[in-house]
Amino acid sequence: MMEERLRMDVGAMDSIAPEFEQVRDQLHDLGLTLSVWDHFGDVVEGFEPSCHLCAEIGGLAQRCREEARKIAERVVFSDRPIKGQSPLGGCIIGVPVYERRRLVAAAVACFPVAEMLESEQLHRLCDSSQLDHESIVGELASRCRYGLAHADRLIDAMTKMLDRERSLRVAEDGVHGLSENLASTYEELSLVYRISGTMKLTCEPQVFLREDVCGELLEVIGVQYAAAVVYPHTPAQGPVEVIAAGDLDLKAEQVRRLAAADIAPQFTDNVRSLVDNHFAGNGRSGSHKGIDRLVAVPLIGDEQPIGILLAANKMAGEFDSVDVKLLSAIGNQAAVFLTNHRLYADLQDLLLGVLEALTASIDAKDPYTCGHSSRVAKVSERLAIEMGYSPERVREIYLAGLLHDVGKIGVPESALCKPGRLTEEEYDQIKRHPMIAARILGGIRQLDEVATGILTHHERLDGRGYPQGLSESELPMEGRIIGLADSFDAMTSDRCYRPALPLPDVIEEIRRHAGTQFDPELVEKFLAIDLGEFLIELRSDDRQFRPRAVGQERQE
Ligand SMILES: [Fe+2]
Repeated sequence: MMEERLRMDVGAMDSIAPEFEQVRDQLHDLGLTLSVWDHFGDVVEGFEPSCHLCAEIGGLAQRCREEARKIAERVVFSDRPIKGQSPLGGCIIGVPVYERRRLVAAAVACFPVAEMLESEQLHRLCDSSQLDHESIVGELASRCRYGLAHADRLIDAMTKMLDRERSLRVAEDGVHGLSENLASTYEELSLVYRISGTMKLTCEPQVFLREDVCGELLEVIGVQYAAAVVYPHTPAQGPVEVIAAGDLDLKAEQVRRLAAADIAPQFTDNVRSLVDNHFAGNGRSGSHKGIDRLVAVPLIGDEQPIGILLAANKMAGEFDSVDVKLLSAIGNQAAVFLTNHRLYADLQDLLLGVLEALTASIDAKDPYTCGHSSRVAKVSERLAIEMGYSPERVREIYLAGLLHDVGKIGVPESALCKPGRLTEEEYDQIKRHPMIAARILGGIRQLDEVATGILTHHERLDGRGYPQGLSESELPMEGRIIGLADSFDAMTSDRCYRPALPLPDVIEEIRRHAGTQFDPELVEKFLAIDLGEFLIELRSDDRQFRPRAVGQERQE
């Protein structure tokens, strides 16, 4: 009966046992001996006979135990306190024990009572066991503090003790849970704060994901490996990108297969995390070599999956809900960054498209300069990369190269497109184009840095350039780079007054003017490039020319 009733509560006793220590000690001070019985009628908390007679009289201890068990069974069955008698005539009381309002056990206590001193049971037991009744009564009398009439009050006291201890333990559990929650929330908040501090739109996604996202995962969760799997924004962006950190030897292609076959299919609108602490035996893609435990979340941008963030092989123990919370927090930040960065990249592409259209329309005034601005931009970009500049500065130099002749929009076509020799006045008009460009772009704050290169692209190291005739020390690198790129493209392009120069002549010309017109260091770096191949590349897609976004290398 007891088994039937409480089979569903098996296991609860493990968690409630500690509180009985307190109750047992308190009851002991009151002269009561406590035992706790589980669902199967087994003792959880030690059963002790209430007097030494039980131990001395053969079979009595077993009978006492049996009576206590019966009381426990009745308590569990009736879900209320029960009182009864021990074989010696003592009192046994039992009360229900609850765990989160579920009855999970019975607490039973026995104690000698005054009435047993004169009981028939005691006489018979002393006779049958050849014990001196008088001395037994004397000993029992010294221990009898209650009568049978006290049973109800003691039941009430025991119930209150159990309630108090249970409430105390629930409160302690609550405080413990709260403190764990607080610690985990603090860690999560501090992580989000750290990561959001590094989220700059100018930061390359690969750098952000590797160092700030995967790097943090390695440290905060303590994993062997972490990776961000990023779906391409457009088909032109190529394959799914894998940015990883850690020391697990996995190729990008393996991680792609892992994400596609084992992780992505597990996510739904309602399932936004995957925790698998037995992944080694569960993986289906065959790409999970070395992964024993895995946790992953989808990266959601604009309500669409844009990738997956995963961490593998926690160093200490298994992944738990706290790890998932942390991974989700980082994943949310990563998704926000990627989404914003893609919007930013779209805007950059739009800006570049507009600027390319603008410069192409200026170049189109003269069929001989068609594509010139785009080519100068690309040569300038290449020179800036060779100089080891930051991606941001490379981009500014690219834009300066693209816009370097935008001032020609303010130069009369009669001078600009004149096939014959220019008069001095016409030449002066043309020489004003850097200043005109500076004025046009002067109102655009975002192009402040770009204007420097445009204004100085016709200056020379020997001070014989225009429009300002700057000296070598005054001439910025931006102007030197665009000046060299401009001259290179002019020499390698047909003009109305001459065909394009052969490449060896161009190289010779550049070398000859190093130190006077061109910066010698730049010349050295430029001539180290395979210019024949570079020229083919420049000419191959004049019409479709688009700059390669700086820093978009992929991990393969
Ligand atoms: Fe120019």
